Amino acid sequence: PQIDRFKLPFKRLPELKPLRSDATTDYYEIAMQKAKVEILPELHTDIWSYNGIIPGPTIRQQRDRLSVVRFINNLDIDTSIHLHGMASLPQYDGYASDLIPPGYYKDYHYPNNRASTLWYHDHAVHHTSRNVYMGLAGMYIVEDDVERDLPLPKGEYEVSLILQDKKFTKDGTLIFDDHREKGIYGDVSLVNGVPWPRMEVANRKYRFRVLNGGGSRTYQLSLSTGDDLIVIGSDAGLLSAPVRTKTLRIGMAERYGFIIDFSKYPVGTKVILKNNILLSNLDTDDRTTEIMCFEVTRQETDDSSIPDKLRLVQPIPISSAVKTRTFRFDRGGGQWYINGKTWEPKRVDADPGLNDVEIWNFVNPGGGWIHPVHVHLVDLQMLDRNGMPPLSYERGWKDVFVVGENQTVRVIAQYGPHKGKYMMHCHNIVHEDHDMMTQFEVGKGGD
Ligand code: C2O
Ligand code: CU
Repeated sequence: PQIDRFKLPFKRLPELKPLRSDATTDYYEIAMQKAKVEILPELHTDIWSYNGIIPGPTIRQQRDRLSVVRFINNLDIDTSIHLHGMASLPQYDGYASDLIPPGYYKDYHYPNNRASTLWYHDHAVHHTSRNVYMGLAGMYIVEDDVERDLPLPKGEYEVSLILQDKKFTKDGTLIFDDHREKGIYGDVSLVNGVPWPRMEVANRKYRFRVLNGGGSRTYQLSLSTGDDLIVIGSDAGLLSAPVRTKTLRIGMAERYGFIIDFSKYPVGTKVILKNNILLSNLDTDDRTTEIMCFEVTRQETDDSSIPDKLRLVQPIPISSAVKTRTFRFDRGGGQWYINGKTWEPKRVDADPGLNDVEIWNFVNPGGGWIHPVHVHLVDLQMLDRNGMPPLSYERGWKDVFVVGENQTVRVIAQYGPHKGKYMMHCHNIVHEDHDMMTQFEVGKGGD
């Protein structure tokens, strides 16, 4: 379908209020259900949704308060919900085969023990890419006092952006085409479920939390003005200090926080958020080279500022690592492998002791694709990529690492705070489904 860019109004993600709260815990409810929504102008699209909307409602929670989220499955498929970035107990982590059948619900418990930008999404074994593509994804933000006390833009000036790409028939039906299990790409670029939206802004600073919630596309963001994006956070929290960059690469499931300073643009200026297509995207449709437009429509005074120091990211000392492991993300015979094997629930490829520090190597031997590697449970730090330092904005807490062709990415983490089995996989969710996934078991040897 032909859609005019930068005509549709930008949509903010609605926040979900708890049903009730007590001294320690907030209780939420989210129903998974079919819905008909207008994504393309004047057409109706059938989606699978959390609470009837795409993306699902945002949960904003305070650090160290507990959340109990009741996910009710009113769909006719099995679902599993993973809160990506949360150190959940194994039974609440959305394990791929821990499914909620149609007509049932499950209460998921979340400790909210660090401030970061997370997202919840479906994780059903072999069907994650279809289920997320059909709409099962939403934002989840944990805040704390340290962050709130920083003079960063807040309130209406703090805005989430979920980037996704989808394909539609002429009548508005979603097309799920996974390129014979290589990847899913769309020619309609969505922000918070709206194709190429236009956002009206004041001439001041805004804080954005951006998530690549798509299937297989890697974004490389920049501003049409050539000005900097000022990156303040990576997947799992604030950086030690702001980092200025002209281009920001965002692999699938990565999150970055950045500031755009609109103060120098006169009213009437249009600033386009652009995306340079990367060769590793199998579908290079040029309709995805632009994402959204900001239009400065009013003047306002700006009481926010960008401090030189944000939150110290203390490097995990390499000398504290007790073990090094290597995982090879490969393709052969039409299959996606990790260390030569596909997913099966019995495979366990690593058994770190509880609270052990380990170094893991992620190897991509090439073939034309990026593998954004995600480790459940832990926050990690990147040591290097092919022996070279990480990109400036990757030097923070992270849980997804872009491993490009012929690259080895070395990461370090402390395996805890829970014992149990957790998944690790490529977050090109088509690769994940076809079976680029394994698991590790923490604390197997006893503590
Ligand atoms: Cu965002 Cu195992 O997933
Ligand atoms: Cu992959």
